[in-house]
Amino acid sequence: MTYDFDRPVERVGTDSHKWQRYGEDVIPLWVADMDFVSPDPVVGALHRRVDHRVFGYSKPDKDLTRVIQERMMRLYGWDVSEEEIVFIPGVVPGLSLSFQMCAAPGDAVLVQPPVYFHFINDPVHRGRVLNDPPLVAKGETYEIDFDAFERSITDSTRIFLLCNPHNPVGRVFTAFELTRLAEICLRHRIVICSDEIHCDLIYPGFRHTPIAALGPEVADQTITLMSPSKTFNLAGLGAAFAVIKNPALRERWNREGQGLVPHVNIMGHVAALAAFREGQEWLDQVLAYLRGNRDFLARYVSEKLPNISMSRMEATYLAWLDCSRADIPGNASAFFLKEARVALNDGSEFGKGGAGFVRLNFACPRSLLAEALERMEEALRRV
Ligand SMILES: Cc1ncc(COP(=O)(O)O)c(C=O)c1O
Repeated sequence: MTYDFDRPVERVGTDSHKWQRYGEDVIPLWVADMDFVSPDPVVGALHRRVDHRVFGYSKPDKDLTRVIQERMMRLYGWDVSEEEIVFIPGVVPGLSLSFQMCAAPGDAVLVQPPVYFHFINDPVHRGRVLNDPPLVAKGETYEIDFDAFERSITDSTRIFLLCNPHNPVGRVFTAFELTRLAEICLRHRIVICSDEIHCDLIYPGFRHTPIAALGPEVADQTITLMSPSKTFNLAGLGAAFAVIKNPALRERWNREGQGLVPHVNIMGHVAALAAFREGQEWLDQVLAYLRGNRDFLARYVSEKLPNISMSRMEATYLAWLDCSRADIPGNASAFFLKEARVALNDGSEFGKGGAGFVRLNFACPRSLLAEALERMEEALRRV
């Protein structure tokens, strides 16, 4: 079937975090979910489960495990066995469980800012120290300074939280880059927790490699986190999974999560299975639409938002805009909220290298994106 992503979906009054935070006159382009309906097969599967009218504890169907195994093999040639897949209600709890398990309070957690704020805030809130060698801006993209990465490691560095594809800079790290990162981590006996939640939202010309798929040595030291939530717009259903090949790590993970990390809810399982099994048609269409939005946005920024530049987006629907040369009075996201009534994420939330930037979520009908950009352009004209 053909999905019409141009058609606006009313989200006001639907318990949407994105649409609830600001006034109704604000266009919310911040938190990472899409203003698009989910794939029809997912909606159908959820309806069938609701019609059953019993919502007891759930356990994932063997089919879900099998579908994930097949997916990993088909997309990445990655052989994952049934027991290596652990279901979790979100990727963020998976990140927290990983660093809490591997790094004691006072130990260090390695991250690459500017990066998704949970990577930075959660370890610090729980008494861990950050090693945060920043990604390096190079032209319209970002690179890894491998020497700085290795130099930041100390005797107390225990875990590297990798974000690949990277939110917010939009990079898909190459197998070469991942190999170098993995070599450094192996040399220093640092566990890798790889958040790959955006791995299906990749634009043509780029290819995702799960770092654990590089080889058995890397896999043995890696916890991989994936989810259908960004891919199929199911974030509110709380379904994700970890792939942990090392049995000792997996056993610890299960033990430490016991009593803290809830099971995935029954709707999440049903939606994940339907999405992975029957969501490809929707995904192909949404990717084409997002690509159109990305290109429209990039053109608009370069032609009409003076002195603002956008990073090259290899993946995700989260654009990273450098506003530091735009003569905006004060904080750019506060400015656009007040003067344009457009809500964006403040770049400084993403740690080192984020000040002066905003993150813009363009997973919405193009007409809404255009309206937000016109408002931003107009606000800049008034400066
Ligand atoms: C890199 C990254 N990890 C995790 C999440 C959230 O994951 P979850 O909702 O499964 O906890 C997001 C959401 O934006 C994200 O961008």
